[in-house]
Amino acid sequence: MISKFAPLKDLDTPIKVLFTGYLCTVGLGYVFALIQILFTHGMADGKFGLSIDDIVYSYYGNRSGTVLEQKLNGSMKNNAPEQERFKIMEWVRAGADKDDYKDDGIEKIIQTRCVMCHNKEASGIPSFTEFEGLKPYIAQDEGATFASLTRVSHVHMFGISFIFMFVGLIFSFAETTTTQYKCIAIGMPYFFLVADIMSWWLTKIHPWFAWLVIFAGMGMGVSFLFMWVTSILEMWLFKPVFIDGFGSRYLEWRDSPEASVADRIWAIIKTLASQVKPASDYVVKQWLNHGWPIIKSWFKK
Ligand code: HEC
Repeated sequence: MISKFAPLKDLDTPIKVLFTGYLCTVGLGYVFALIQILFTHGMADGKFGLSIDDIVYSYYGNRSGTVLEQKLNGSMKNNAPEQERFKIMEWVRAGADKDDYKDDGIEKIIQTRCVMCHNKEASGIPSFTEFEGLKPYIAQDEGATFASLTRVSHVHMFGISFIFMFVGLIFSFAETTTTQYKCIAIGMPYFFLVADIMSWWLTKIHPWFAWLVIFAGMGMGVSFLFMWVTSILEMWLFKPVFIDGFGSRYLEWRDSPEASVADRIWAIIKTLASQVKPASDYVVKQWLNHGWPIIKSWFKK
């Protein structure tokens, strides 16, 4: 392959050191980011390790009920008769209004059934002598707030696009990957970055989209890893890997005349793109012939 640029392996050593320093620092940053995700989002459902529930709780919130309801069905079950517990839960479901607290007799139930333990003298458990003490336990958990999502969204978009700018720029000097795959690897992180951030907002609306958060995050990680490993190997280990090592088989496979997966995807995209113009012409024609006269006749009336 005749390239129009100096491939990574032929770069001056100072440039290689610069690129390698950057890649290693960003790679380490990625590792810390993953650890942080594990410890913040990963703990959202109270269990270690990242799961779909974690994502749902982080963005959508745990809407299966308030802590008070869970406790009244759980470890506090025996502290009040069925009827009274039901009354409290009804009041919580109805919005836990402060005025209704007194009027519906909830205060009386709490005072007679709960305050014997949940009072100011008790240590380690909340006091329910005042309405204020109950508040944290009757709040619906709605996950990430609008404010926090806007903040994290723009920080991620600005910051991560810069990381992929330079990782992609370095990788664009790679010579072992075909132009098609390079375009995919360089473009993919941006696509997944936007998909990832959109999926946070979508998960806030519906928990189903938690899958998209994980899928987009993995897509970003895979393209990062691919560009990172290829760049480092080409700069420092070209001969042992791509000439003498396992990479030589990869190059054989790359140069084989059979159509690669990328070629096939490319062909599909091209066919689809070639349909865009006729399709839009058709839509415009239909609109001019059928849609527009109807609107015009409305205005005439
Ligand atoms: C016999 C003493 C006792 C009574 C009566 C009692 N509680 Fe508790 N409550 C505790 C203890 C001890 C804990 C902490 C252990 C636990 O969470 O199970 C607790 C925990 C709680 C919590 C969770 C607090 C947290 O920080 O997560 C809530 C909510 C709660 N109780 C509500 C009630 C309500 C409502 C009543 C009245 C129907 C009630 N409790 C009656 C002893 C009591």
